[in-house]
Amino acid sequence: WPYFLAALAFGYALGSIPFGYLFARLAGVGDIRSIGSGNIGATNVLRTGRKSLAAATLIADAGKGVAAVLLAARWGPDTAALAGLGAFLGHLFPVWLGFRGGKGVATFLGVVGATVWQVAAVFAVVWLTVAGVTRYSSLAALIGAAATPLAAIAFDRWLAAGLFALLAVLIIIKHMGNIRRLVRGEESRIKL
Ligand code: G3P
Repeated sequence: WPYFLAALAFGYALGSIPFGYLFARLAGVGDIRSIGSGNIGATNVLRTGRKSLAAATLIADAGKGVAAVLLAARWGPDTAALAGLGAFLGHLFPVWLGFRGGKGVATFLGVVGATVWQVAAVFAVVWLTVAGVTRYSSLAALIGAAATPLAAIAFDRWLAAGLFALLAVLIIIKHMGNIRRLVRGEESRIKL
């Protein structure tokens, strides 16, 4: 199982690159952690009013999840799943930012997409529907993430379902602040 550890570490190395933080810094927006929700993800980058920067963050954060899974896939589905888990954990707990990272939604989308693309399509449809109706990015992510293990089971992909369930639980835990704001009716809505 040195392969498994290596896959986890490799995924972590990729996932811990905080693209939202770096892009905001490079674009002269400043420290994204002192803006809006303080999160380093695409939703919060969008709050700076820089749509292209938010799109770049979404693509790069998803891309590191895709890259981790696909590059590890040649050693089998278990290794790919562990690399995906590593990338996700790297995004949530990046050593470079004192282990205080993002909420994992974009990286989750990348990991899911590279594992079972049909499940990523389900996630995208759920996300777009909920966000379109409510304008809450967090609620869309929570419902979408919760749907992914069920969708994976529907496609008879049990290892993937286990991975997605674990990641969905971590996404929910990372969104506790958002959940409290949603319950109080204080969550901010996305503006495009
Ligand atoms: O993807 C993160 C999103 O679900 C919530 O982001 O910045 O509103 O906490 P934020």
